[in-house]
Amino acid sequence: MKYLITGGAGFIGSHLAEKLLGSGHDVNIIDDLSTGSLENISGIRNSKKFHCTINSIMNPDVMEDLVAKTDYVVHLAAAVGVKYVIDNPLLALETNINGTGLVLSICNKFKKPVFIASTSEVYGKNDKDALKEDDDRLLGSTHISRWGYAASKAVDEFLGLAYFREKKLDVTIGRFFNIVGPRQSARYGMVIPRMVKQALLGNPITVYGDGKQKRCFTYIDDALEGVVGLMNSETAPGEIFNIGNTAEVTIEELAGRIKKLANSRSKIVYVPYEKAYEKGFEDMKRRKPDLGKIKKFTGYHPKHGLNDILTKTIEYFEA
Ligand SMILES: NC(=O)c1ccc[n+]([C@@H]2O[C@H](COP(=O)([O-])OP(=O)(O)OC[C@H]3O[C@@H](n4cnc5c(N)ncnc54)[C@H](O)[C@@H]3O)[C@@H](O)[C@H]2O)c1
Repeated sequence: MKYLITGGAGFIGSHLAEKLLGSGHDVNIIDDLSTGSLENISGIRNSKKFHCTINSIMNPDVMEDLVAKTDYVVHLAAAVGVKYVIDNPLLALETNINGTGLVLSICNKFKKPVFIASTSEVYGKNDKDALKEDDDRLLGSTHISRWGYAASKAVDEFLGLAYFREKKLDVTIGRFFNIVGPRQSARYGMVIPRMVKQALLGNPITVYGDGKQKRCFTYIDDALEGVVGLMNSETAPGEIFNIGNTAEVTIEELAGRIKKLANSRSKIVYVPYEKAYEKGFEDMKRRKPDLGKIKKFTGYHPKHGLNDILTKTIEYFEA
């Protein structure tokens, strides 16, 4: 098969490219290197089955050329990360809404199946025990940039489902829940790489808010099992799936575990949200996925626990 990965020089995209190449497939990627890097793909750049286009998904001529010669499109390119989205609200909305609209229209023109990356952020502040794909979304005010990311990804989902229903295009949507692992950048507001770096440098490990907010973290290899399972499923198109892990941890507990596993002397300090992000910033208390649907469709079963994830991430940053 020939795959096109948008955002293929990013964290998830570069791992997926490696996995698909390892299974004998051809992989094309397109990336504008806004948050991705050539370093992420240094291990695969010389592969004969790998091709890289440094350009934007917003360029229709380039995208048409790439989509026309592919069998399956994995659309990961997006403005990502709470901090990045708050610092670049317009770019985030344009990339995530117009970019995905363009990708879908070109996939439809050439009738190529597509996987669209969405996010657990679409659930917003709904903090029920285990979030199901058809649960309500509870977003805050439009004055708060953070919700712009959630809203833009929700529009992507609406667009994807509309293409499936009206144009019979095979569109599968995955909502990622805090995917982590090697190559994830600490720069754009991702909590584990940031805390690991702080711990290894002996700098204060910063916990935003009161640290009582809970999250579930998913190792990249587990997430990719989910993505590949969905891409191979004949019944997944037209559906939305949570891709995550159900083990919850509070952010202050996370900081403690990172400090211990990294043998760090760093202090753990609490920083108010307003100082870390922007005035009026809102966060969700918890965000735990119900994985029943993806399990039913693909047999998905995440294997990596939190200590394993943290140890691997610490080893990566140490190296
Ligand atoms: N990592 C997570 O925990 C997580 C959680 C929820 C959703 N997601 C989604 O998964 C996808 C991949 O995220 P990631 O964590 O790998 O982030 P990432 O920032 O590493 O990857 C995104 C990639 O898209 C590229 N990109 C951005 N705008 C582009 C454009 N206009 N043209 C071409 N390339 C462009 C970036 O350079 C980057 O390489 C995103 O759609 C994101 O919203 C990720």
